[in-house]
Amino acid sequence: MKKSFLFSLLMLWVMAAGAAPKADYGQVVPVPDKIVYNAKGGDYVLSATTVIAYPAHDAAMERDAAFLAQYVKDMTRLDLPTVPVKSKGKGGITLTLDRKARLAPEAYVITVDRRGVTVTGATPAGVFYGIQTLRKALPVLSEAQSVELPAARLEAQPRFGYRGLMLDCSRHFFPVKFVKQYIDLLALHGMNRFHWHLSDDQGWRFPVPGYPRLTEVGSKRAQTVMGHNSEVLDGTPYGGYYTDEEIRDIVKYAADRYITIVPEVDMPGHMMAALAAYPELGCTGGPYKTGEYWGVYPDILCAGNEKTYAFVKAVLDHVCDLFPSKYIHIGGDESPRVRWEHCPRCQTMIARQGLKDRDGHAKEALLQGYFAHRVQQYLETKGRHIIGWDELLECDVDTSATIMSWRGAEPGAKGATMGHDIIMSPSNALYFDYYQSKDQSSEPPAIGGFSDVANVYNMEPVPAELTPQAKAHIKGVQANLWTEYISNPNQAEYMILPRMAALAEVQWLQPAEKDFGAFRKRVSSLRHIYDLYGYTYAHHLWPEEFRKGARQY
Ligand code: ACM
Ligand code: ZN
Repeated sequence: MKKSFLFSLLMLWVMAAGAAPKADYGQVVPVPDKIVYNAKGGDYVLSATTVIAYPAHDAAMERDAAFLAQYVKDMTRLDLPTVPVKSKGKGGITLTLDRKARLAPEAYVITVDRRGVTVTGATPAGVFYGIQTLRKALPVLSEAQSVELPAARLEAQPRFGYRGLMLDCSRHFFPVKFVKQYIDLLALHGMNRFHWHLSDDQGWRFPVPGYPRLTEVGSKRAQTVMGHNSEVLDGTPYGGYYTDEEIRDIVKYAADRYITIVPEVDMPGHMMAALAAYPELGCTGGPYKTGEYWGVYPDILCAGNEKTYAFVKAVLDHVCDLFPSKYIHIGGDESPRVRWEHCPRCQTMIARQGLKDRDGHAKEALLQGYFAHRVQQYLETKGRHIIGWDELLECDVDTSATIMSWRGAEPGAKGATMGHDIIMSPSNALYFDYYQSKDQSSEPPAIGGFSDVANVYNMEPVPAELTPQAKAHIKGVQANLWTEYISNPNQAEYMILPRMAALAEVQWLQPAEKDFGAFRKRVSSLRHIYDLYGYTYAHHLWPEEFRKGARQY
């Protein structure tokens, strides 16, 4: 009797022990390059007595430790203290810098044995990515419980140094709270560049000293077209802009998460909002109004007027003051040159610069090259470099311009061969404003196209036909969320999640490590984190959820 009672007790204990939640490194997105389990190492039990240690007097590592404590609390409800240590900590979770710098700048190593967990990076950013992995390996628990972390060694290093996502805040304005949440999502997915599209025909979204009408007039439109450029306008005024204080706060919020904000001021096209504010900057003198329709407008900045260059300088001065990024995006896409063809000032500038049609470039295209070159030279005096859309390749710009390849991968391949650094962002895979289902009737409005999670996952950013030298110019990968048809945060989340998870593996993994079948399982784990934070996401990978009528957006 006694024996059987003891046996039952033991069984209960075993069952309880067996039911202890476990961390699962293999379910992390992006999955680490290497996971080597160490059966002899013994599991580490993360519990209420675990302490997170970071090197004393290192503000970045202290911040990393605080992030980890918050993430652990979010996932497991365990409230762990963070403590500075002078030497390598014993037990608990230790965040360390690899002083010998054997690791690449953003790489990390995590080791786990029964005594504790160590997260090592050559930089605090590397440690931060290790923390993201640790966080995603944890189970989501509804009440505080210990978690077993299997003994193992994990290693990861991102394939690309530039891992971006863009948000267009011109077509629709997104509040500061959402911009920060977008940055949180970048951090969760191991990304390090937030490309912030801050001006376009339909709205100018930041102040510039000396040009108050940009926010007074350019940040507003009288109404917005309904649907895909129907004849019907909604009759509702729309507007918004970020103050300097808000922008500085967001820049710091991103920097704390090792994310650089690459601001974009699109020029010389996509400028209707600025022209509405300052019509003298256009070739015809206006009047103009902030765009109420989507698409490309023929009116752009006049490239023959010195007032335009003074305006651009003032804008860039302030952009450089607000944003520490080495790279400033100057757009350059979809810039019709019809006004320039008929503008006496532009034609005078063409003549003065001795521009003539050559090598398939019209002289007006070369005028855009002249414009971009002046902007580039000005930014270089401030130690900044330009990024521009791939149309710049048609304007004979200097190879020091980084090119963002959006009209497929071909312009990127061509640019890389010419010697430009390239960010791959081909619309056919990485435009997250495209539909993610062929059944458009069941989707929120999107711009068109089609790119589902598999299509994102399977894209290869480095064209196979390139020489090794040209391949080395492919510096990064980015997806874009244009927001003509995306009017609110829920819909924005729906468009990026979980395609962003697929993008993260494109950005982090070597091609041979990619496996869509395995990724599908991993992303099913990741979505528990989406659920935890209440993010809206598309459910196409989980069709049964559609049948349950889950809220989508
Ligand atoms: C773009 O999509 N016009 C860059
Ligand atoms: Zn002109």
